Order: sequence, then C-alpha cells, then structure tokens
Amino acid sequence: MKVTVITISDRASKGLYEDLSGPVIEKIIKENIADVEISRMIVPDEKEEIREALQKAAASDFILTTGGTGLSSRDITPEICEEYCDRSLPGMAEILRSESYKETPHAMLSRGYAGIKDKTIIVNFPGSVKAVTLCTRILLPVMGHALKMINNEGH
Ligand code: MTE
Repeated sequence: MKVTVITISDRASKGLYEDLSGPVIEKIIKENIADVEISRMIVPDEKEEIREALQKAAASDFILTTGGTGLSSRDITPEICEEYCDRSLPGMAEILRSESYKETPHAMLSRGYAGIKDKTIIVNFPGSVKAVTLCTRILLPVMGHALKMINNEGH
C-alpha cells in the first residue's frame, strides 16, 4: 500500500513550527500495516502548492492531509481537495467528524473532506496531533477493504 501524508501549514512549511502531526500519522500507519510505503510532504496553505502536492502523490493509494480544515481565511484544504477529486466519500469525513466530536466539540469546526481521484483516496484530517491520532486510528480498519473496492476486486 502506498500512502502519502501531506502536512498543509504555512508555519510548518516555513520551518517556524515543527511538523508533529505528519510523523504521527506515519508512525501509526507503519505500526499497523505490514506492507506500506509512506512519503511525506509539507506545503503552505496555498492553492497551487496543495494541488501540486496532490498531483505529485497521484500514484498513492491514499493521500492523507493534515491541517487547513478550520475556519481561518487561509484554511482552504477541503475546497482544493474537493475540486481535485472526481467523487466524494462523505461517510469517511462524516465519521471522522462525529467520532472527533466525542473528543472535543471543536470537531465541528473542521470542514475536512474525503474523496477519490482516479484510484487514490484523499482524506483531510485536522492539524493537531490529537486529531490525527484519532483520525488515523479510525481510518486504519477500512483502508485495505477500501483499496480492494476501488480496484474493483470486490469483497
Ligand atoms: N478533531 C479531533 N479529533 N481532535 C481535535 O483536537 N481539533 C478541532 C477540529 N477537530 C480537533 C479535531 C479544532 S480545535 C479545529 S479548529 C478544527 O479541527 C480544524 O483544525 P485545522 O484548522 O488544524 O484543520
């Protein structure tokens, strides 16, 4: 399985802030999936750079983004990903938000999107370590089955 983790953050991309969430996603996935190849990227909250990162990761089975899902005017991750995807995967985004709400009411401030571009599943996680820890754990049990389905391999 190929997974690309994209951290979307102005501060992390400038090195003003250490990207903690990208490495946490990588660690949890590596601990739980045997045959996985993970790449990581860090980009600012800029449309063109986010799109370029998505395009560079086009050969991935999953692209997991972290950050830029909130309400600040710089938070554009969901819009860029939705525009880039061919189809939506609303259940994934809904479950991530509703399970996160059990952790914090602020979960409803995340506008994270999930969708499919060709054969790649793209999922937006919020930016915090706490959020990505929960969201990665929620996603893990369905990743293998989702891949089979997207590759028309049935159940
Ligand atoms: N989801 C979980 N599981 N845990 C969290 O701590 N933080 C929330 C929310 N979702 C949070 C969460 C907060 S405080 C915000 S503002 C939104 O995600 C958006 O975060 P982002 O702008 O970093 O993407």
